[in-house]
Amino acid sequence: MTFQNISVVGAGTMGNGIAQVFAQNGFKVSLYDHFPEVLPKAVATIEKNLSRLVSKEKLRTDQAQAALINIQTHTDLAAAVAQADLVVEAAIEDEGQKKALFQTLDQQAPSHAILASNTSSILIGRLEAATHRKGQLIGMHFFNPVPMMRLVEVIRTPHTQQSVFDAVFGLAQTLGKVPVEVNDAPGFVANRVLMPMINEAANTWNAGVAGIAEIDTVMQLGMAHPMGPLRLADFIGLDVCVAILEVLQTELQNDHYAPAPILLQLLAAGDLGQKSGRGFYDYSQDPKNPTPRNLR
Ligand code: CAA
Repeated sequence: MTFQNISVVGAGTMGNGIAQVFAQNGFKVSLYDHFPEVLPKAVATIEKNLSRLVSKEKLRTDQAQAALINIQTHTDLAAAVAQADLVVEAAIEDEGQKKALFQTLDQQAPSHAILASNTSSILIGRLEAATHRKGQLIGMHFFNPVPMMRLVEVIRTPHTQQSVFDAVFGLAQTLGKVPVEVNDAPGFVANRVLMPMINEAANTWNAGVAGIAEIDTVMQLGMAHPMGPLRLADFIGLDVCVAILEVLQTELQNDHYAPAPILLQLLAAGDLGQKSGRGFYDYSQDPKNPTPRNLR
């Protein structure tokens, strides 16, 4: 099984990072988004990240240019996936929308194409059941920022063909990533472990045990995490964190995973974290050194 043409469906934070990594490694990438205004922003982000690599002498200028040439943008899904050997879906974290999308991808992608989802928590088996491609659907879960983070969870269902699994696992290695084999389960490994930590940090704040910066400092310095859990929640997006926690709560039938009240309050206020300028922290002055908000 060889890959040349990769279609990335969804050009948000994860989608543009995934597109960049494939394009940098010589693959032809069709980057699709339903919303036309998202595409120029995605390309601008990729350009900025490639220039950063050039200025750090991790990439040559001609390699950055070649990567950009490898990316074509689309607002027509059928055209975006027409030549695909692999489709990586990186759309909104909503089971109904993803199922509908996979039904369409099943109809529009070539019959040999592998369909992969970058979902953070939704069962791959549910997406597989929406298609006629049993065995050819897989989870390929990247981490933000995609160009930096080396991990890819490669998630197999009981139906996933061994040849499909091996091909996608090898492909992740070709991208310079470290793939890890994971069985299909809500939240897989990463978010089953990470989200309860973030939620517990938020509940710890709700209980008045310590302030936002203090909780983050404890975890950053005490546990050597690159970011504290509340800063990380802002980085991931509070909407994404709540969506994942709700999947864990429903699928594992355990209210221990119920999102902390402060997460739901911030979400209701439209404060989604770094991407909206405010979450646990305020990013308006200095996005690299945000200020903890007074939320009590
Ligand atoms: N894209 C590409 N590169 C980026 C980047 C971005 N958006 N942001 C930062 N970088 C690079 C910088 O260029 C820099 O590169 P060098 O080491 O070559 O100089 C490096 O990352 C470090 O950046 P900074 O010095 O600016 O900042 P930092 O040291 O604070 O690192 C960070 C930033 C890499 C994001 C780091 O804080 C970190 O690792 N945070 C944790 C990230 C994490 O846990 N991600 C997983 C989230 S969970 C997820 O994605 C999955 C899910 O399902 C929810």
